[in-house]
Amino acid sequence: ERQETKLLYDINRKAGLFYYRKLTSSQNKGLQYLKNRGVGSNEIKAFGLGLAEDRWNSLLEYLTKDNYSEETIEKTGLILKNKKGDRYYDRFRNRIIFPIFNTRGMVIGFGGRVLDQSLPKYLNSPETKIFNKRKTLYGLNLAKKNIVSQQLILVEGYMDVIALYGNGVKNAVATLGTSLTKEHGQLLKKYAKEVVLAFDGDEAGVKATLRSIQILENEGLKIRILSLGKKEDPDDFIRRQGKDTFYRRIKESPNHIEYQIQKIRDNYSLESTEGKVDFSKEAIKLLQQVKSPIEQEAYAEEVAKELNLSKESLLKEIREKNQKYT
Ligand code: GTP
Ligand code: MN
Ligand code: MN
Ligand code: MN
Ligand code: MN
Repeated sequence: ERQETKLLYDINRKAGLFYYRKLTSSQNKGLQYLKNRGVGSNEIKAFGLGLAEDRWNSLLEYLTKDNYSEETIEKTGLILKNKKGDRYYDRFRNRIIFPIFNTRGMVIGFGGRVLDQSLPKYLNSPETKIFNKRKTLYGLNLAKKNIVSQQLILVEGYMDVIALYGNGVKNAVATLGTSLTKEHGQLLKKYAKEVVLAFDGDEAGVKATLRSIQILENEGLKIRILSLGKKEDPDDFIRRQGKDTFYRRIKESPNHIEYQIQKIRDNYSLESTEGKVDFSKEAIKLLQQVKSPIEQEAYAEEVAKELNLSKESLLKEIREKNQKYT
C-alpha cells in the first residue's frame, strides 16, 4: 500500500524529468511555442515544464525499460489501454507538459496543452491515489515561498500562473480547470490571510468569481477582486501592461462587498424608481450578511449615496427587517 504510493511518486518524478529533457535538450516546436508566448528558460526550470512528443508510446517505452510494469504505470494515469484492450499508449502526446506538484514538491499529476488550435486544449491526469484535484492548487509549491503582504492571487489557468511568475509576480496559484472547492479554500487559508481573485474577464470568469467569494468568505479570508477586460486573462494583462500596473490594479481593487455592490448596480437602472427599489433590496440583502456593524455602516453609506437616500434609513432597513429579504 505505502509501497504502491511510493511507486506512483517515483514514476511521476521520472516522467516529469523525461518530458523536461524532451523539451530542453534540443531545439523543438515545444520550445518555440513557449518562446512565442513569452515563456523563458527561468519559468521552464521553475515549473519543470516539459514536452510530450508526437508519438504513441515514448513514455511507456522509457518507463518499462526502467522496469516498471504497465499495470503500475497505468495507476498514475500516464498510460491508457487501447479500445481492444490489448495494448497501452501514452495519455499525453504532442503537448506541452505542466507537472503538478504538491506543497512538498512532489509530482502528483500532469496537465498538457496542445501546441495549436486543436481540441481539447488542455488535458489533465485523472484522479489517482496521489492526485486529488479538489485539494490541489497549481503553483502553490512555489507561491507559498513567495507570499507578499499575506496575499495569494488566484487565477484560472496554468499559463496565468507561469506568466505572472515570469513577470515577477510569484504568489499566484490556479485551480486545475475545476471550480474552487471548500478544500481549496482551506488550503489557501493555511498560507494567506487575503486572496486576490483574478479570473478571466469573460462571463465564465465573473460567475466563477461570485462562486469563489462565497467559499473564501466561509474560510474567513479577506477577498479582493481584480477585474480584467472581457477578452483578457492575467497572462494577457501582465504581458501587455507589466508588473507595476498589475500591482497597482490589485491595490485599487475592490473587496468582495464593494465588488458585489458594483455587480448589483450594473444589473439595475438607477434612473427609474423601480430600478432604485430593486437595487436597494438586493443591496440590503447583501449588507445584511456583513457581520461587523462598522463595515455595514460604511457600505450602507456608499449605497445610500447611489440612491440619494439617508444612510440612517437604509441602515434601519438592514437591521430591522433582517428576516424580510433572506
Ligand atoms: P491558454 O489558451 O493557454 O492561454 O490557456 P488559458 O489558461 O487562458 O485557458 P482557459 O482560460 O481557457 O482555461 C483556464 C484553465 O481551464 C486551463 O488552464 C485549464 O486548466 C482548464 N481548461 C481549459 N480548457 C480545458 C479543456 O479543454 N480541458 C480541460 N480538462 N481543462 C481545460
Ligand atoms: Mn476555455
Ligand atoms: Mn477562461
Ligand atoms: Mn490564456
Ligand atoms: Mn484564460
